[in-house]
Amino acid sequence: MEPLPYLGVGVGLRREHFASLPATARPLDWVEVTPETFVGVGGRARQALLACRARWPIVPHGVSLDVGGPDPLDDAYLDGLRRLCDEVDAPFFSDHLSFCRLGGVYLHDLLPLPMNEGAVAHVAPRIRAAAARVGRPFLLENPTYYEVMPGSTLDEAAFLARVVEAADCGLLLDLNNVHVNALNHGYDPVAFLDALPLERVGQVHLAGHDVRPGVVLDTHRGPVPDPVWRLYERLLARTGPVTTLIEWDTAVPPDPGPLLDEADRARALLATTVTRRAARPGAP
Ligand SMILES: [Fe+2]
Repeated sequence: MEPLPYLGVGVGLRREHFASLPATARPLDWVEVTPETFVGVGGRARQALLACRARWPIVPHGVSLDVGGPDPLDDAYLDGLRRLCDEVDAPFFSDHLSFCRLGGVYLHDLLPLPMNEGAVAHVAPRIRAAAARVGRPFLLENPTYYEVMPGSTLDEAAFLARVVEAADCGLLLDLNNVHVNALNHGYDPVAFLDALPLERVGQVHLAGHDVRPGVVLDTHRGPVPDPVWRLYERLLARTGPVTTLIEWDTAVPPDPGPLLDEADRARALLATTVTRRAARPGAP
């Protein structure tokens, strides 16, 4: 896997912030965009995209690549993704370890795969093909799941590690998803991190969740909760600075200020990590 650039701390470009985010005077290092919102779309969306591109690096993060589904990859989707990546000169792009399409119909959900060697053999060449067609390095995100699919023989960390190694791609490690899955499926999130090839982590997602009776939901609502920040600190101690994104997609505040507050907190932790590592010459 080729080395990925370190971009600092970003936020997603949401409709609520099409006018305000590109004009912000607050610190911001990069912006993540969902291709489904911007490919082939003009008007305010395109204006906001270009205004952000004039100030920051842009990274497309999709939900429709369908790396795990039974349908062939969607060439029209991939071509649109390539045009977007070329237009904004994206350093890499990302999507989820899941499936979302069946019989040509998009299901508008990130559905779990059976965690086994057969799925590894199915997904890895699709990731390689998608990265080649888009012409950029690809990062695979660990999704949440609420049931273990029948036929699973690997645990989640082993499955994720097997896929990124077989596909030779990067890992977009969503630490809120790690926390939510650890609670819902009863595993130790730190042991989960220890079982991953952390040298492949090219980006982190930080987000919020909702605790409901009997289940924790990955809603991307509100500020990043403390247990997710603690996981982030543990990860940074292992990896050093890593490109980071604040994901806030539900009940999005009318002003981007609260998202940028979270970005400031992440940036402060990244700076602390740099200082600590500099004080430990030879630290891995
Ligand atoms: Fe995420």
